[in-house]
Amino acid sequence: MLIGSVFLAQFFIKRWAAQYQVVYSDVYMLDDEMKWKVLPPMPKPDSHIEFAWVLVNNSIVIVGGTTEKHPVTKKMVLVGEVFQFNLNTLKWSFIGKLPYRVKTTLAGFWNGWLYFTSGQRDKGPNDPAPRKVLGEMWRTKLKLNL
Ligand SMILES: *[C@@H]1O[C@H](CO)[C@@H](O)[C@H](O)[C@H]1NC(C)=O
Repeated sequence: MLIGSVFLAQFFIKRWAAQYQVVYSDVYMLDDEMKWKVLPPMPKPDSHIEFAWVLVNNSIVIVGGTTEKHPVTKKMVLVGEVFQFNLNTLKWSFIGKLPYRVKTTLAGFWNGWLYFTSGQRDKGPNDPAPRKVLGEMWRTKLKLNL
């Protein structure tokens, strides 16, 4: 159904308002008639320069990133989830959790495994603010929803 159309998903439109960042979860698709169509929003808003994505079969897989700032402390909040956007059904699903929350990581997919390496991780399970820059490499078997 997407064949012949230009798929441009602008998941995360980032805007700087005064001094803080507003993160959007809107998703847009350019359809066959070259008109923008609004798709279901992401389960969690995520910032486009901070997450990693890979295209696997007919899905976009999103790894990590940052979401809205903590309402009280205003500290940056990292994302520890793996999301799938199925391009056939146009549905989002939560497909996994990372070993920790991470942003600006690199992700790759090969032979059934999802890999990620580098980026900046959280301070710990109870503090989603960014801390250490990583050199570790992780991989997990990727199970997509149809
Ligand atoms: C991708 O599609 C192939 C062929 O249908 C399937 O064997 C494979 O398991 C799919 N990969 C993932 C990660 O779901």
